[in-house]
Parts: sequence; C-alpha cells; structure tokens
Amino acid sequence: MKKLIVLTLTVMVAVSLNAQNPIIIPGTLSGTEFNLNLQNGTFQFYDGINTTTMGVNGGMLGPTLIMQKGDDVDITVNNNLDETTTIHWHGMHVSAANDGGPHTTIEPGASWNPKFTVLDKAGTYWYHPHLHEKTNEHVSKGIAGFIIVQDEEEATLDLPRTYGVDDFPLVIQTKDFDSQNEIVVPSNSDDVLMVNATIEPSLDVPAQVIRFRLLNGSSMRVFNFGLSDNSSFYMIGSDGGLLSEPLALTRLQMAPGERAEILIDFGGKEGQQLKLMSYAAEFNNGIYGATYPGMGQMMTLDGYNPNAMNGNNFEVITFNIGAPNGNPVTSIPATLVEVTPIPESDSDITRNLTFTPEFMGPDQLNGNFFINGTTFDMDVINYSIPLNNTEIWSITNQSGIAHPFHIHDVQFYVLDRNGNPPPASEQGRKDVILIRPQETVRFITKFEDFANDPVPYMFHCHMLIHEDGGMMLQFEVVDDLIGINEQQSENSNFVIYPNPVSNGKIDIEMLDENTAIKMIEICSLDGKSILSSTFKGWQTISDYDVSRLKKGVYLVKVFTKESYYSQKIIIK
Ligand code: C2O
Ligand code: CU
Ligand code: CU
Repeated sequence: MKKLIVLTLTVMVAVSLNAQNPIIIPGTLSGTEFNLNLQNGTFQFYDGINTTTMGVNGGMLGPTLIMQKGDDVDITVNNNLDETTTIHWHGMHVSAANDGGPHTTIEPGASWNPKFTVLDKAGTYWYHPHLHEKTNEHVSKGIAGFIIVQDEEEATLDLPRTYGVDDFPLVIQTKDFDSQNEIVVPSNSDDVLMVNATIEPSLDVPAQVIRFRLLNGSSMRVFNFGLSDNSSFYMIGSDGGLLSEPLALTRLQMAPGERAEILIDFGGKEGQQLKLMSYAAEFNNGIYGATYPGMGQMMTLDGYNPNAMNGNNFEVITFNIGAPNGNPVTSIPATLVEVTPIPESDSDITRNLTFTPEFMGPDQLNGNFFINGTTFDMDVINYSIPLNNTEIWSITNQSGIAHPFHIHDVQFYVLDRNGNPPPASEQGRKDVILIRPQETVRFITKFEDFANDPVPYMFHCHMLIHEDGGMMLQFEVVDDLIGINEQQSENSNFVIYPNPVSNGKIDIEMLDENTAIKMIEICSLDGKSILSSTFKGWQTISDYDVSRLKKGVYLVKVFTKESYYSQKIIIK
C-alpha cells in the first residue's frame, strides 16, 4: 500500500510542475520614433525568485516595434547598462552604419540614434545585441525584441493581424539556470524552455484562425515544431516576409535566428487543448537538439547531456481554446503575395565558403569554428562586394555539427541543398539557413542600395557561442569598383616584396606608374578567396597585412580598372 501512495504523490508533483503560466505578450511601440532603454533588471522566471536579467524598457525582453514599410524611422537606444553593447536590427535592409553590428558600440550611459527608411516587406524581424564576444551573454540575459513590418500588400490579405488578439509573437528560447537561479552563459546545458520569457507557458486562444510569429531566439537549440494532434498548420511567412501561398505542414524545423509566421485553425475546437511541440526525437544526429549534437556518438559537447530536451519530444506551449471573438478570420487564404526569386543566371560571381572545426577529432564540437579557415577580426574586411552585385554564395559545412548561417544587409533565396531544390518552407526570403554537416547550400542575393559605409556588415553562425568564438566574418559593399575588369592579363604587371613572406606584411607595386590598384584578393591555389581589400586606386600598397595566412603558397590577384594580374606568394 505504501508504494501506491508514493506513486500517487509522484504523479501529483508531476502535474503541479506542469502548471500553466499564461505567457507575457510584449507591449508595442509604433509610429516613427522609438525609444529603447537598455537596462539591468530582475525577472521572476520562477515564482518568488528574482533572476538577474537585462531588458529593454523593462527587466526582460523588449517591446515589439511595429513599423510601416516606407516610413522614415528614428530610433533612440539609451544604454543604461553598466557595460558596452550594440543593437542590431536582424533581417532588416539598412545601411551598415545603421545596422548595429559589433563596430557600432554604445558605451554605458551613451545613446545611439539610427535613422533609416523601412525598405523591408511585411514580415517578422527582431532586434538583439551584437557586441563581439558578448552577444550570447546579452541575448541570453534577456535583450531581444520583435519588429513587425507592415505594408499595403499584406494589409489587403484576409489574415489575422490584431496584435495580442489573433496575432501573437512567440519567442522560443532555452536557457540554463544555476542553483541560484541565475542564467548561465555560455552553456550547453540549456534545459529550461520558455516562450516569451514564460516557463511552462500557455495561451488562451479563440476558436478561429490565429497567426503566430515564431522566433527561435535560443543561443544554440534547433526546434522541430509540430502540433500535439499532428494536424496541419499553415506556414505563411519566412524570415523576410510572406510566402506565395500558405504551406500546409505538420513539422517545421527552426534554427536560432530564424522566424516563421504560421496560421493555426482552432475553428470548432472550443473547450479543447492543443499543444505546440518540438519533435526533437526526429532529428538526425549533427543538430544541436538531437540525441547527439555531432554526427556520431563520438562527437561530444561539454555539458550537452543529460538534458531531457536532447533527442526527445517536448511541449513548447499549451493552447487553451475558448470561444471565437467578434470578428474572426475563419479560413486560410488560398494565395498570399508574389515572391520573385532571383534567377541563377543573374549571378555575377559565386563565392565559396567553408565551415571547418578548429581541430579535428571527436572533441571538435567543443572548439571554435572557422569560415574559410579564418576567424573574426574587427580590422579585416573579408569581402568587398560591388554595389548591385548579384551573387551566389555556396557554403559547405565540413564540420560535424549543423550551423545556422546568417548574413546582414540582404534577404536571399536558397537555390539548392546538395544540388536538390530546398523544401517549400525554404523557398521564401531568408536571412538564416541551417547548413547540416557535409552539406553544401547555395543561395542567391543582390547587394543593393547601401555602399561605402564606414563600418562593414557581418555574416556569421547564429549559434551564439560559435559567433562569439569567431565564426563571423565581415563584408563591405563598395561602389567605386565600377569598371574593374575580370579579364586576366597575360603578363604580371606588378611586384610583391618580400616574397617569400616571413614577417606578415607585403608591399605591392604596379610596374606601370599610371596603373591604380582597385582591389587585392588573396586566394588559395584552388581558387578560394581568403582575404580581399579594396583601395581607392593607388600604385603602391605598403605593409599589406597577411599575418593571418597560414604557411603555404597563395595566389595574389591585383585588380585594376582594366584587368587583373596574379602572382604566387609563399608564406613562410
Ligand atoms: Cu541576429 Cu548578426 O545577427
Ligand atoms: Cu542579423
Ligand atoms: Cu555554428
């Protein structure tokens, strides 16, 4: 008899731990002037227990900014933290100076005042800090918020759009708490799931079509969303706006940084309960969230296990379905907006990128990761991209774990995954794409509108430990390259000295004193671009820094207006 009582008690405890906490719906700011105060705070993730946090206009997360396409917005970010940070408008097409990357620091007590025209399509974007080596900490402690862009095209569709009534933002995050209930950063033991900063979350919804704006705001974890009754939901938007038509899905995988807008039809389900799940048991190895984060059992990640979320299905949020409200949307629209992918034939150049681990072997997941064999350096511009270039980026993951690749400035269209067309959920505008181990993903994009800024844009892995660990490079967009000729010249018209290089610096001089150097690019012998820099047009470049190149032989290409010339150099 005693045993039975104990068992009953256990069940009772389990039930009470499974309490439902109504989620917080972030407040909104709209119009054209936005005031954001970054602040330290405390927040009760657990009843009665204060956890140290950072937030925007409050202790945790930040308000949802509602912007209209075409508006000129004026944002004031006041840094009331006691440390430096930045704020980045993830997914938005703004100039590099307004983008809030790692160069655009806001000192404690200082303010930053970006002003820009909203050029983006209606969709779900977000903002978060981006200080190099601190992004994970500042995001994990709580600074993140939604940006909803609205436009006329979206306004004509019969979609739910009343914020907090039939249109809900859901930021899904996992965090790790220590025994004092403080947030641990960095951590691979993120075993507490929250939606809008609410643990064991629930939401009362009316029995009608509801729109959810999903954001995976986790530092590392990938989710595999589905409904508890395995019914279909409808994806209507990806990172950069609406799809051409709703896509009926039973599963949607989302990596850190990705957004998706979905519709769930709760019609006729009054009084019932439905759960949004993550079916993580279905992940293949090699994804953070699978049983093994690396490709095999050999590849371990410190602190990853034990964690009931890894490789197991779990609940994300419980929907309690109530009576429909006064003015419900009751059906899923047949079509949405026109999506016009860039044809592959428009491409001016293909850039090849590779991901590699810092060291090979079973412990490789615990090291840093490189892009093109190199790591983040604030002082190095890795690509100079001519304004209005249409480019294919072909990214190969040669590491044992999947990485969500993100690029600033642009939205892109995925061309293929290992040569196969992407799934329909990835055929809309994207700014984050998960690249699995041994996979090559190609996308196409165009670099428009903004050039010659004093600071560069970033591209990086959106697993924040990887980003902070240097899995991030920089590009600038330049418009003074017009006229460079991709035709290689017969004779090598320049000299490099010293060659071989032993002190990490080279001088490059054109032999014809009337020829000006517009760009220097250093490639591996198999043609991968490793370093490139643009110049206003000089005959001699002195002390060009090549100290980051490992020992070996490289090809130096010197571009002039008419031609490019190349020569080999040896790095000793
Ligand atoms: Cu969401 Cu470079 O960032
Ligand atoms: Cu971004
Ligand atoms: Cu990564």
